[in-house]
Amino acid sequence: MALGKTGFNVVIHCRRSLAEARALKAGLEKLGVKAWVVRGSLDDEKAVAQMWYEAAKAAGRIEVLVNCAAVFNKDTVGTMSGAAITGEFWPNLFAPMLLTKYFAAQSLERGDIVNLLDRRIASHDPECVPYLLSKKALAEFTKTSALALAPRIRVNGVAPGPVLAPPGKPAGSLRDRAGKIPLLETVAPGEIADAVIALLNMPATTGQIVFVDGGQHLLGSHDQ
Ligand SMILES: NC(=O)c1ccc[n+]([C@@H]2O[C@H](COP(=O)([O-])OP(=O)(O)OC[C@H]3O[C@@H](n4cnc5c(N)ncnc54)[C@H](OP(=O)(O)O)[C@@H]3O)[C@@H](O)[C@H]2O)c1
Repeated sequence: MALGKTGFNVVIHCRRSLAEARALKAGLEKLGVKAWVVRGSLDDEKAVAQMWYEAAKAAGRIEVLVNCAAVFNKDTVGTMSGAAITGEFWPNLFAPMLLTKYFAAQSLERGDIVNLLDRRIASHDPECVPYLLSKKALAEFTKTSALALAPRIRVNGVAPGPVLAPPGKPAGSLRDRAGKIPLLETVAPGEIADAVIALLNMPATTGQIVFVDGGQHLLGSHDQ
């Protein structure tokens, strides 16, 4: 919605949440912009390529890519399995890397990529090992691809703190589970969108990661 309010036409990707994606499309169209829904998993290269093909076919040239879809599981060194690791690395890291490649292969004079990260990239949280490593790697890829794709394409990241409770958990559980936050408040979803839009409006900025986490990353440790 924030991108639509800024005037962008929007391709919405979903996997299972088709009703929500369609409702978002209707909301965007009410704003007077065009919107399309593409559906698919981000769990293997063929599926990612198909999703990109459908998005590009619907919208034509894509000028902004926001890599947001992710899996967050609590898996420790003791509980993680190969399937759990690849199940998080595909949507959280491999798909954004491939989408970056497809995005850059378009004939674009200027483009923007924003990767959704996590404030945990500044810590060593042992309670969600595959998730944390996928986001740390995506943070490094944000910087590497910023260098690789300059000056045509800028690549930046937004690293949220606690915003929404995980699927299946009540909204009120977030404050209890969020840990210590220097600014005392959890983060409103609109602030994440504001950070994405702000980065799109900063033409001299690339390879930058903006933490929107009430200062939580400054504490460093996962359990403070
Ligand atoms: N929520 C927070 O407090 C928080 C904190 C820090 C960082 N973040 C980051 O911010 C971003 C958005 O967070 P969120 O809480 O909105 O995420 P989310 O609700 O957990 O997941 C967003 C969507 O990703 C899609 N998805 C997941 N796995 C997929 C797969 N294998 N293939 C295709 N689509 C897949 C799902 O779409 P469908 O529903 O259509 O299946 C899901 O609804 C994520 O990158 C997350 O890591 C969030």
